[in-house]
Amino acid sequence: MSPGERDRAGFNVVTFDAIGSTNDEARRLAAAGAADGTVVWARKQTSGRGRRGRAWLSPRGNLYCSVLLRPHVDIAVAAQFSLVTAVALAETFTELLPRRGHVQQKWPNDVLINGRKAAGILLESSGMGTGRPDWLIVGCGVNVARLPELPETVATSLHAEGAGEATPEQVLQAFLAHLQVWRRRWETEGMAPVRRAWLDRAYGLGERLVVRLPGSMLQGVFRGLDEQGALLLASDDGRLLTVTSGELFFGRDRPEGETRCC
Ligand code: BTN
Repeated sequence: MSPGERDRAGFNVVTFDAIGSTNDEARRLAAAGAADGTVVWARKQTSGRGRRGRAWLSPRGNLYCSVLLRPHVDIAVAAQFSLVTAVALAETFTELLPRRGHVQQKWPNDVLINGRKAAGILLESSGMGTGRPDWLIVGCGVNVARLPELPETVATSLHAEGAGEATPEQVLQAFLAHLQVWRRRWETEGMAPVRRAWLDRAYGLGERLVVRLPGSMLQGVFRGLDEQGALLLASDDGRLLTVTSGELFFGRDRPEGETRCC
């Protein structure tokens, strides 16, 4: 562990030069009793993980961190933290980009700059996906200087969008400050302000899209978020569906082989 533990914006950051996955290390620390607010940060990952079992290539130059939380709420509510995190990342990018690039959140867990993915969030929790989790881990990968290839994704980085001076450490510092503000707001005021902030920067609102679920697809128009942060989809058969998980494909980024929609 190097150079050790530091306090930033009320978080306790544990720093590594290289590690397999910061999410895995955060899980280990959670099991060993680490406190809420512990953050694992690594300059490089050798087995970074993305959503849906994908690899997250993690060369030096980008930000890889995992925030350990011990929320006193059920998992359905704790899962809202991915939107809290996306809003904090979007504010961070807006602050760092000199030309104020067009920063948006893509439901559920991505942050885009000028329509390209700049960050992804991987939320993991203890338990079996029901009840109150003992811990929640929010893993964030931010393309700061490097642009690893991502399957089915058009990606960008902070440097490519004009924030050429930003270092992973600066991005972490700014992100944790925004995260602290939004976490407190979420705890005291609930999901309403998070939902409003998220919708202000929503990618694809009002557009046609395909939602890929395990084993099936839904098609329709993205109508917004419900009060819990689930996606509202006006389906082609006239129903308003509430979607709690899935992958979204708008227009040109629709899944391979899918030609009927958007
Ligand atoms: C995605 O698929 O978009 C989510 C990517 C999440 C990557 C981050 S990098 C830090 C943390 N450690 C991991 O192994 N994954 C997450």
